[in-house]
Amino acid sequence: MITTFEHLADAWVRRRAAPEPEALRAIQGLEPAAVVTGGSRGIGRAIAEELARHGHRVLIVARRPGDLETARQAVERAGTGPALILSLDVTEPTAGACIEEALASERLYLDTLVNSAGIGLSGRFTGQTTADLDRLVALDVTALTRLTHHALKSMLPRARGNILNVASLGAYMPGPYQAAYYASKSYVLSLTEALAEETAGRGVRIAVLAPGPVATGFHRDMGADTAIYLRALPVMSPERVARSAVRGLRLARRVIVPGLAGPFIAYALRVLPRPVIRPLVGGLLQPDDRPQTPRAR
Ligand SMILES: NC(=O)c1ccc[n+]([C@@H]2O[C@H](COP(=O)([O-])OP(=O)(O)OC[C@H]3O[C@@H](n4cnc5c(N)ncnc54)[C@H](OP(=O)(O)O)[C@@H]3O)[C@@H](O)[C@H]2O)c1
Repeated sequence: MITTFEHLADAWVRRRAAPEPEALRAIQGLEPAAVVTGGSRGIGRAIAEELARHGHRVLIVARRPGDLETARQAVERAGTGPALILSLDVTEPTAGACIEEALASERLYLDTLVNSAGIGLSGRFTGQTTADLDRLVALDVTALTRLTHHALKSMLPRARGNILNVASLGAYMPGPYQAAYYASKSYVLSLTEALAEETAGRGVRIAVLAPGPVATGFHRDMGADTAIYLRALPVMSPERVARSAVRGLRLARRVIVPGLAGPFIAYALRVLPRPVIRPLVGGLLQPDDRPQTPRAR
């Protein structure tokens, strides 16, 4: 249901829009599509389902075919039409072109881009390998930047489109024991806010999502499942985060911090002095690396 607020948001987003006739001709006869990187699991998958629920045709991008197929079925159940999947490592330099090709073969064009694919790294910085650090920067920073650049260059001449970059509440603070990950999310927050300002009123919605901890396999995968933050902070469901994200995008919000506690934490992090924040966050993020007692089966 389109609300009055959404109409107002739409008018605001388009206040300086000047679509180029050639760009509009290029998409004549094509249908708009939403592309969700990292859409096979976790937050990305929940956003893909939520977008399908709002009537979007969805292309889910991730690497593992098994998870992609499961996500495709879930997205189709949530929406009304077929969903598409693309097995692709988005850190490939040709990722943008591969996505365009997959869309064009179905007579679709990129109208919404959600950059959700991301990985984390936990533990002492010096304990991490350069290969792991390179992988993190390649995905969380470089791939997101390239795909955003690629999408924005075609959306602006059409004066329509949506870009949602997934950062984290971690973007607001330095993260001892997840240093590179938190720094990468600060980059995403800064980049996205800056682009939203640079392109304001030209018809493209650009938003950044900054959730606190979310119940996905992400923390286990980065070896942080013993850290205190998962017990000390409220952990949201990916579905709730997705609802908040899609609502925020429709209302043309630039920074979307889901949940009740999230906005307060984000505000506190902006006003509290860094010397207070650093040790506090370090205490929450430090993994418990004492040997675990084997559990009786
Ligand atoms: N979970 C949280 O608490 C939390 C909180 C704040 C922000 N975030 C951010 O939210 C985003 C999603 O996190 P999540 O919790 O949903 O993680 P997740 O459950 O681990 O899902 C990650 C997704 O990214 C895909 N992916 C990973 N590497 C990829 C690559 N190179 N190319 C293409 N796809 C790739 C994965 O599929 P394949 O492995 O099959 O490729 C999967 O679909 C991340 O950017 C994360 O930083 C998470």
